[in-house]
Amino acid sequence: MPDFPAGFRWGVSTSAYQIEGATTVDGRGPSIWDTFAHEAGRIVDGSTGDQACDHYHRHAEDTALLAGLGVSAYRFSIAWPRVQPTGTGPANTAGLDFYDRLVDGLLAAGIDPVATLFHWDLPQPLEDAGGWLHRDTAARFAEYADLTATRLGDRVKLWITLNEPFIHMTLGYGIGTHAPGRALLFDAFPAAHHQLLGHGLAVAALRARTASPVAIANNYSPVRQVGDTDADRAAAQAYDALHNRLFTDPLLGRGYPDAPGLDPAVIRDGDLDVLAAPIDVLGVNYYNPTGVRAPEEGSPLPFEMVPLDGYPRTAFDWPVAPDGLRELLRQLHHRYGDALPPVQVTESGCAYDDAPDAQGRVDDPERIAYLDGHVRAMREAMAEGVPVTGYFVWSLLDNWEWAEGFTKRFGLVHVDYPTQRRTPKSSYAWFRDLVRR
Ligand code: BGC
Repeated sequence: MPDFPAGFRWGVSTSAYQIEGATTVDGRGPSIWDTFAHEAGRIVDGSTGDQACDHYHRHAEDTALLAGLGVSAYRFSIAWPRVQPTGTGPANTAGLDFYDRLVDGLLAAGIDPVATLFHWDLPQPLEDAGGWLHRDTAARFAEYADLTATRLGDRVKLWITLNEPFIHMTLGYGIGTHAPGRALLFDAFPAAHHQLLGHGLAVAALRARTASPVAIANNYSPVRQVGDTDADRAAAQAYDALHNRLFTDPLLGRGYPDAPGLDPAVIRDGDLDVLAAPIDVLGVNYYNPTGVRAPEEGSPLPFEMVPLDGYPRTAFDWPVAPDGLRELLRQLHHRYGDALPPVQVTESGCAYDDAPDAQGRVDDPERIAYLDGHVRAMREAMAEGVPVTGYFVWSLLDNWEWAEGFTKRFGLVHVDYPTQRRTPKSSYAWFRDLVRR
């Protein structure tokens, strides 16, 4: 493995609903994911995040696992319905107390707390009022950011406003496989604009309360055009605009790209200035590239997504393509030039069907190969001049993988859900050694 610059940030990521459990404790209100997971047929194994990894009660043990890993940063998310149980009104002190304990525990272990404000768990009452389709949710989000930073702003070392607004819009409001389960296809654009507006307003709220840097974590997927007709090219461009540019161009001062579904009527005067509030770091979440070709005639979509041949595959059936990370980092650099802030890879990881052997050890060579490939690909992009300053593995723990329930394991640490026993996998030792070096 090549050397990395001193001060490079190595970390791991998690999110609140996927690990915390304790969903009715200390005044927490319901989120859209509580509602969705409890609806029949939504989650493949019928599970919910009611208990998840019980991290709410086991955070000290999990912080010890982080310390053993030697990471310099831990990216977690704050559950909005713990801080504001109904999405509005004063802060619920007991909810913030939990994050206070977590943050202090991390700092005592020498680990930088990196907090994401929104990882998809909108308070249910806000969804009842229209969710992110409703412009007012953006203002509510800024209020929540203000309350949270008032309590934690002196200790969180990097603030991330939103996690993957593209995925939340697409799966949550576009096709409905995630909460809140709306299937509006291209009428979901208001959920894009209002999330980005909320981001911009939250950046301003955070700046007023903290001197720590502020970021957003976007999902990116380099597009592999399949076929080479003009129609295939147009389809690849349309998909690229939607996935890779819609949530980045306006943040970096370019306004919206020409993307499918874009509805100018949703955008008010002055909004683009709010969206373009300077950020200090761009969070990049990368899992795989996407194959795209022209759609069949009569398709409601301007593109068709096709499986990419020739790659090994994860348990999610996602192609393992480390070169995609290098390509997307290069592309961001090329596309935005000096407007691109320093990048941190805020999620990178893979699911495999890991299970303990007869001795209780969990060996996951595929994950080690996956991470090794992606870290090297990132390092190559850095050598070419892309400003990358951090890398976070998704995830510390096996956890509740949204619509896939407990069937997909992404952790460096195996979790036996009935007993909540944590067992570091061989990838944990591999990552620890990498960080040490
Ligand atoms: C999300 C995580 C999720 C991971 C794997 C990302 O899109 O931010 O919450 O677990 O992908 O699917």
